[in-house]
Amino acid sequence: MNKQTIRDVDWNGKRALVRVDFNVPLDDEGNVSDDTRIRESLPTIRYLLEHGASVVLMSHLGRPQKAKSEEEKIRKFSLKPAAERLFELLPEASIVHKTRAISGEAAEAAVRNLLPGAVLLLENTRFDDREEANDPTMAEELARLGDVYVNDAFGSAHRAHASTEGVAHHLPAVAGFLMEKELNFLQGTLENPEKPFVTIIGGAKISDKIGVIENLLGDVDALLIGGGMANTFLAAKGYDMADSLVEQDSIDLARTLMQKAAAANVDLILPVDAVIADAFSADAQRQTVAVDAIPGGWRMLDIGPDTVVHYADVVRNAKTVIWNGPMGVFEMEPFAAGTRAIAQAMAEATDNGATTVIGGGDSVAAIEQAGLADKVSHVSTGGGASLELLEGKILPGVAVLNDK
Ligand code: 3PG
Repeated sequence: MNKQTIRDVDWNGKRALVRVDFNVPLDDEGNVSDDTRIRESLPTIRYLLEHGASVVLMSHLGRPQKAKSEEEKIRKFSLKPAAERLFELLPEASIVHKTRAISGEAAEAAVRNLLPGAVLLLENTRFDDREEANDPTMAEELARLGDVYVNDAFGSAHRAHASTEGVAHHLPAVAGFLMEKELNFLQGTLENPEKPFVTIIGGAKISDKIGVIENLLGDVDALLIGGGMANTFLAAKGYDMADSLVEQDSIDLARTLMQKAAAANVDLILPVDAVIADAFSADAQRQTVAVDAIPGGWRMLDIGPDTVVHYADVVRNAKTVIWNGPMGVFEMEPFAAGTRAIAQAMAEATDNGATTVIGGGDSVAAIEQAGLADKVSHVSTGGGASLELLEGKILPGVAVLNDK
């Protein structure tokens, strides 16, 4: 990575203004139900504390503009639950404060007396309407809260907001360890993949993944397609997909992508069989058929066993694998086998020495559900951000950091 990191700064006596991504799910009682993103920020926070800094953290949580009242906004979108979880995870911090302030006088007062070893978490940056507008006045106000800016919020690095981009124009700006790790695995893998390089792309829609497929066609040896988007490719090859989800207006696009893959010598591999159901429901009747034999009234909800054997084989023999998007409707147990088998093959490929990367979103949920998240090289904490990286886009929250 060609950006400066927290290792390049002398932190003694400095105040670090750190953007983290504590946009974490909350349960009905308002407690953090998945603290992965908070835990993943700890190495950076610990490093800063150990090197004599005090730490001011900022993050957004959800989309508070949607709240119908001030009461609902605080109840559903305050960072208080994240602060409480952080407090449990970071007993060595001399003190973890939280404040209702984001920037301005109250926030400046809260940070003024922060001693080295102390941590302060500001309130949800999106409580201020200027955040998403990347308003320069908010960026300047935030910059007054620290000596050096650290961006460790990989999950939000595709957003050019005041706390992720604007503020970095006013302070020395470096990457945290999570940001560095994510970029090394996602960008680094794309730049220098050991061959064979295989990508598995799934999910419901081709339209969500066109950018990724086009960007990867130049690099990969094989592209395995699953999930709802496989239906559209199969329809483009002339198969009757019956009641399966098919994006009619993407059929031409699917055809073009297949032609581009052939021209680039990339093996674009489609399912040969399918688990089909007579309704979109976990209790629907189901059967396994070849993809050219889907009866009327039935729909494809998972890749079939012959496809699984073939895909798993390709993955196991790869040296680099990137996976984005499930192979079927894995949220429903009867249609989860294909996705689970890919998770298993990823773990085996890792054992065989391959670099295996799960690029955010639903595939992260799938590998966690399979209990294999710690058996692959890297599970990204960013959904949208990892997708944009795989599309070859520049992330504004990264671009703005100081070069090495
Ligand atoms: C995410 O969860 O993808 C990031 O935290 C960004 O959130 P956003 O999509 O609301 O900007």
